[in-house]
Amino acid sequence: MSLSRFGVSLESKLLNDFDELIKESGYPNRSEAIRDLIRDRLVQREWEVGEKEIVGTISLVYDHKRRELPNNLTEIQHEFVGVIIASMHVHLDKHNCLEVLIVKGNPGQIKKIADNLIGTKGVKHGKLTMTTVGRDLA
Ligand code: NI
Repeated sequence: MSLSRFGVSLESKLLNDFDELIKESGYPNRSEAIRDLIRDRLVQREWEVGEKEIVGTISLVYDHKRRELPNNLTEIQHEFVGVIIASMHVHLDKHNCLEVLIVKGNPGQIKKIADNLIGTKGVKHGKLTMTTVGRDLA
């Protein structure tokens, strides 16, 4: 892969703040930090444009003793078999469960599934994390 160099002009304070941030984050140099920022924005665009296949994780924390909740969550997961490609269930304590689903497919559909699951009555906290299949990312 060929490398290109470019110059960037920044206000001194902005550069100082950036240097502090990347030092805290453990980046070895500015280039690596800037590469990650660019990749992150490109991945975000994949989700916004919605034409490419993408992957993500949906995490859900809930109390399994709430009557219909586990059934409802399982129902939704069966409905979208093929998009939900893996799942993991961890019993956090006597009542609370953490379920992590790995989803792959169309961004619009994945957001809809996540909204559906997170919005299910009794889910205490839910989060969709969006990432990329990595195919088109340098
Ligand atoms: Ni459990």
